[in-house]
Amino acid sequence: MENKSRGNWQSQVGFIAAAAGSAVGLGNIWKFPYITGKYGGAAFVLVYLIIIIFIGVPLMNSELLVGRKSGKNALGAFKELAPKSSWWIVGAMGILAGFIILSYYSVIGGWATAYIFKSGAYMAAGADHANIFVGSITNPWAPLIWHAIFMLMCIGIVVAGIEKGIEKYTKILMPALLVIMLILIIRSVTLPGAGKGLAFYLKPDFSKLTAEGILAALGQAFFSLSLGMGCMITYGSYLKKDQDIPANSYWIAGADTAIAFLAGFAIFPAVFAFGLEPGAGPGLTFITLPAVFASMGAVGHVFGILFFFLLTIAALTSAISLLEVVCAYFIDEAKWDRKKATWIMGTIIFLLGIPSSLGQGVWSGVKIIGGRDILDSLDFIASNILLPLGGLLLCIFIGWYWGTDKAIEEANIGAKSIKLGATYSFLIKYVAPVAIFIVFLKSIGVF
Ligand code: PHE
Repeated sequence: MENKSRGNWQSQVGFIAAAAGSAVGLGNIWKFPYITGKYGGAAFVLVYLIIIIFIGVPLMNSELLVGRKSGKNALGAFKELAPKSSWWIVGAMGILAGFIILSYYSVIGGWATAYIFKSGAYMAAGADHANIFVGSITNPWAPLIWHAIFMLMCIGIVVAGIEKGIEKYTKILMPALLVIMLILIIRSVTLPGAGKGLAFYLKPDFSKLTAEGILAALGQAFFSLSLGMGCMITYGSYLKKDQDIPANSYWIAGADTAIAFLAGFAIFPAVFAFGLEPGAGPGLTFITLPAVFASMGAVGHVFGILFFFLLTIAALTSAISLLEVVCAYFIDEAKWDRKKATWIMGTIIFLLGIPSSLGQGVWSGVKIIGGRDILDSLDFIASNILLPLGGLLLCIFIGWYWGTDKAIEEANIGAKSIKLGATYSFLIKYVAPVAIFIVFLKSIGVF
């Protein structure tokens, strides 16, 4: 449905940039390396790639086509395609996931923003990079101010609306991020002792793979591709009929996976070269990369500032997609205007994020799920439970309720090179839902 008043993406490139902008973010550069390190390296990466291909890509197609077909937000899409049913609950779950994710995402976005200004500290001779990081996130006030600044930037862009806001900001800065990643990789792999990091990252040791690790890989695939919560439904709703959904899906998933993979290449060789701990947790990127910049001499300043600036932009283009999911619902369904929806929701989400920030320092004694702090627990609930569950239900919705024939028909309008067909159908009806279900059962210890 082309809907002039809601706005449409102006061009194919603009759409890919915006959707890839949603996908590429902290998930790739902060979270992917840190959980790869936590769950043992190469074997985890392999499982992750398999999940992207067999579950991620079909679901990317599915969300985009449901969005374009319905022309609606995450919840409205289900009401449109399945009136008088309870399927809207899947959309509601997605909006809830958006709330939760953005609340802590903005806290980490704040860390990244703060780091733009920390090159003086981490470039100093003999700087203790772990200490600088821990010091900066455990302080009760500073991270909250950065969280507020990050959220304000996010609100500013979403208020401007999708054509003026989202598309414009993504198109230019994404390629810049890619370039700086490549420079970082070159520096990282040429450090003495980098080889051990490459082995950790590329030589699978399956004895390190656990059920929890597989669930984490599944959750990370959803999180990184922005799937399972209606984000790509919402973005798909702004797609025009002549835009090519299958090709877009491959581009977005490909770009996202490539950037995550490159981030690992920049980080793991350096982790081992500097004698750091790959399983260090959420601080891994923020501790390792400054060490790489410091090893570059004076130009490290420039690269460091540029890198954290681009990371902040990448985080922002993801955060605006999260806020857009929440706001699109209130704009479409509750008929709020864009400004009101964005300010109210942005403020609520900011407040919701405060405990995640305090949980790094003054509230660090608060442990919720399996010894995880507040931020990690929210991430676990959202990424490892809500998103895969949302994906599972979307598979069941398309495969067993609405019909893959209708889905394929919609996706293939405007498809030029590759069209969806029997393989898509098989993956959505059987492979993806069964795999997600098994991972769930296994991770709660059913077998
Ligand atoms: N994909 C984003 C990232 O990797 C995070 C995100 C998750 C954005 C879910 C939107 C929806 O950083």
